Amino acid sequence: MNRMLVKALLAVAVLLCCLLMGMAATSDTPAATTNVTYNKDVLPILQNNCQVCHRAGEVAPMAFGSYQETRPWAMAIKSAVLSKKMPPWFADPRYNHFSNERKLTPQQVKTLVSWADNGAPEGDAKDRPAPVTFVDGWNIGKPDMVIEMPTAFPVPAEGTIEYQYVVIPGNFKQDTWVTAAEVRPGNRAVVHHVIAFVRPPGSKWLKEAQPGIPYVPKKERSEARQNQNPEGGQRQGEGQQQQSQGPRGQRRGDGGITDAENLTGYAPGLQPLELRDSAKLVRAGSDIVLQLHYTVNGTAGADKTRIGLVFAKTPPKYRNVTLLAPTRDFAIPPQADNYEVKSQVQLQDTVTLVDMMPHMHFRGKDFVYKITYPNGETQTLLSVPKYDFNWQLGYTLDKPMVIPKGSRIECTAHFDNSPNNPYNPDPTKEVKWGDQTWEEMMIGWFSVAVDPKVDTAGLIKFEKPGTKGDANSAEQNTQPQSGAKASSTGSGSR
Ligand code: HEC
Repeated sequence: MNRMLVKALLAVAVLLCCLLMGMAATSDTPAATTNVTYNKDVLPILQNNCQVCHRAGEVAPMAFGSYQETRPWAMAIKSAVLSKKMPPWFADPRYNHFSNERKLTPQQVKTLVSWADNGAPEGDAKDRPAPVTFVDGWNIGKPDMVIEMPTAFPVPAEGTIEYQYVVIPGNFKQDTWVTAAEVRPGNRAVVHHVIAFVRPPGSKWLKEAQPGIPYVPKKERSEARQNQNPEGGQRQGEGQQQQSQGPRGQRRGDGGITDAENLTGYAPGLQPLELRDSAKLVRAGSDIVLQLHYTVNGTAGADKTRIGLVFAKTPPKYRNVTLLAPTRDFAIPPQADNYEVKSQVQLQDTVTLVDMMPHMHFRGKDFVYKITYPNGETQTLLSVPKYDFNWQLGYTLDKPMVIPKGSRIECTAHFDNSPNNPYNPDPTKEVKWGDQTWEEMMIGWFSVAVDPKVDTAGLIKFEKPGTKGDANSAEQNTQPQSGAKASSTGSGSR
């Protein structure tokens, strides 16, 4: 009894204390917990949720390491976490769980808000947790192979720079399984995004490019000249791309895996490739192709980007393949504020879905992935209700899903070409597919794990959105077998 009384009294005392401190520190704090300090409460949250980006040399422009570094950002932190701007994460929580989810608990948000509201005190140094040690440089561990641009690309102080492609001979003597890959820009001030592709031997893609020399494919050169929009390629992010002459642009019906495969990339929010029990196959004699998007910032600079690869120590059980459901035929009318574009592919074999990554440009508004199983049941796989082009996020399923042969992946995107879209460079323009950021793209990237023996080139069939039933009714019939017959492998359907 006595102990309870003491406890109760203590609680009251603490409460009073808090109230008084709160009143002293700020005028308009609603019921804040006030003994929150940087050292004791805030730093652990920052270490676990923010420092991955907010530290020297990483993607965020300011570091949240020391108290001195963090203190000026207290109010900005409060508003960023209340508005859910930070940490960046855009999946609707109603659909699926993702292993790379970034999220604060309501309690953590409260802690950060209270801290800011109460004058952002530092607190006692002895409460401070040990600093988290991040790997300096590579986040994927020590790479087995590092491939660097042979010569630096000079970035001028001003102007629009077309996408540069650098073909780097990989010198792969044998078929190699890659479990992790990371792009490290040489100069983050000018590198906007990078995508690393694996170009297998025999591919004709960028055949005319000299190894190691930054190259601009002809189509892009003329396109860029026609579209002299100084804003477009510069301010905002740009992520996974499809190039006009590239592995995916050439033919409709090309799965993007026959001429080259997307390996990994660098863009705000994008995490390096790190596979769990699968690996990507890099065939002997393959080259690495870097697609680089440089942005000017008023000061001339130079960049030498590198890519690091970690090899599987033993042959993997599964091969990871990046596939895509794109639609290139669309024209978004001027001023349209909710223009819908759909894409659809049908799986020609049973696969395990690992992750998804929607891609659009400035006018992208929302993006949904759905699956229709062979038995007709449907399920939402990922919904990104507020797509933000500045963030190129991939969503890795917490529990990879078995998708039976014959299932369809259907993507629905909306575009906002109205003046209400703050990123819209020009609401008066009709917008079509194109590489540059002021043009548009609609790609539902996804990666799957398959038995290494599966023929990945024929893994998906591109269909006209809305196609149902037997595969023979599909627009592009690249595979003889019918999807509808394949419903016996229904293990993944729900
Ligand atoms: C995936 C990387 C990443 C993570 C994780 C991340 N940030 Fe950021 N943050 C950025 C980048 C990049 C910017 C600058 C671009 C922008 O403002 O959108 C930024 C900007 C900010 C800003 C400035 C916002 C403004 O309006 O000026 C604040 C404050 C912030 N982050 C707080 C946080 C906090 C707090 C966390 C953890 C709870 C966090 N961030 C996690 C990458 C990240």
